Amino acid sequence: MTGSTKKERSTTGAGAPAPSDRNSLSIGANGPLLLHDVHFIEQMAHFNREKVIERQPHAKGAGAFGVLEITADVSRYTKAALLQPGTKTDALLRFSTVAGEMGSPDTWRDVRGFSLKFYTSEGNYDLVGNNTPVFFVRDPMKFPHFIRSQKRLPDSGLRDSHMQWDFWTNNPETAHQVTYLMGARGLPRTWRHMNGYGSHTYMWINAAGEKFWVKYHFHTVQGMEFFSNAQAQEVAGRDADFHRRDLFDAIARGDFPKWRVSVQVMPYAAAKSYRFNPFDLTKTWSHKDYPLIPVGVLTLNRNPENFFAQIEQAAFSPGNTVPGIGLSPDKMLLARSFAYNDAQRNRIGANFHQLPVNQPKVPMNTYMFDGAMAYHHSGAAPVYATNSGGRPWADTTGPAEDGWEADGEMVRSAYTLHAEDDDFTQPGILVREVFNDAQRDALVDQVAGSLLGGVRSPVLERAFDYWKNIDADIGRRIEDRVRRGSA
Ligand code: HEM
Repeated sequence: MTGSTKKERSTTGAGAPAPSDRNSLSIGANGPLLLHDVHFIEQMAHFNREKVIERQPHAKGAGAFGVLEITADVSRYTKAALLQPGTKTDALLRFSTVAGEMGSPDTWRDVRGFSLKFYTSEGNYDLVGNNTPVFFVRDPMKFPHFIRSQKRLPDSGLRDSHMQWDFWTNNPETAHQVTYLMGARGLPRTWRHMNGYGSHTYMWINAAGEKFWVKYHFHTVQGMEFFSNAQAQEVAGRDADFHRRDLFDAIARGDFPKWRVSVQVMPYAAAKSYRFNPFDLTKTWSHKDYPLIPVGVLTLNRNPENFFAQIEQAAFSPGNTVPGIGLSPDKMLLARSFAYNDAQRNRIGANFHQLPVNQPKVPMNTYMFDGAMAYHHSGAAPVYATNSGGRPWADTTGPAEDGWEADGEMVRSAYTLHAEDDDFTQPGILVREVFNDAQRDALVDQVAGSLLGGVRSPVLERAFDYWKNIDADIGRRIEDRVRRGSA
């Protein structure tokens, strides 16, 4: 359905000429309205239903379409069709903030979402990551609590620093991600000027059935650029949609943003003895241990024609994998493989995968039928498997090719620690070896400012200890600044 510039009549939902889009039907020019003004009633009723609920986290965002081109040969690690040399695959990338609601300013300090859907020749592959390689927690039981602590107070409906720091300092595994967030990466200049990461560890499987563990990196070709606090605040007041506008305008003028795609690959057997738990989402893998291996280039080159249809109704899920790519024992990833499609059944409807933006570009032969708004169907073909009517079904048995070994008692427990696992070493390295002097100063300013924004005892003292554990000097500087009462 497209807009028309010709002088034609608009129509009702049923396609008949609309009686009027200017005046409702009344008894006399000043009289009461009539219930049988079907077109008017339809307009009112549809208007009341023209929103879907916003995403629980990551509500504010936008995105664009593009292409992934594989420029290297990683076929010894994966047989996935989209990753074979020279392959070009259509993609959709949605960027977002985590805590903000639909109308929140794009330039508030936050982690940014980096959600990819690849329309591959073997079905859709989704990689739903962030602009940081780590995350706040490592057990999914904590996720809803974490998100609530970053959103709004139950009484006033206000956001609250005390609540944020209460959660972070009670959960020291947040230290690595909080250091990223309080540093420059918490304020990317534009979405085009930030990196993306798959964050989790995934499995790749090659044609011989050998398995590898991988982490994805998307490095911006535009270069990383950040805002200062002052710049971000000024922009937030001037244009709440600054990042959305920047991406749309850049693509509209033919300035197509690109990311270099690479992976770290760990041999399957090395995971057990690696010095960090390689499935712990609060940790990175050392690039000295596992250097980046080039894969290809991702380019965004097409804006959505309709924001609601193609971005708001887009449904990404870490559970959408294709042959040659699997999940991993990362508990967060396993929980996410359920959570997203469940959110979308609630947010969009049971048949969200039939919408054009979510449909795979290969034929579907699914045994999911009917339900609200279903329009994909297989005619009179058998609706059950196995069947004698010639309709194919999956009859795989035996070990899952993308599986791993699991054994033991059922427990509720933290991961088993590896030799160098702790919560503070990696954020300490980030502060001392990755940040420069100016970035360390900005970190002290930012954290002190946030703590002065209403954080009370005993959370305040816990926050000083938290930072001293990350880096003794930075911790002392933050405490001094807060005790003096100035950010
Ligand atoms: C157990 C942990 C997590 C749970 C239960 C969870 C749950 C969710 C849910 C329910 C949504 C909304 C989906 C929708 O309505 O379409 C969402 C969105 C999102 N999440 Fe998570 N999440 C988790 C962890 C993570 C992690 C670790 C990352 C990144 C590494 C992440 C990145 C995102 C992104 C980028 C979106 C926006 C998706 C879009 O653009 O549509 N989440 N999450």
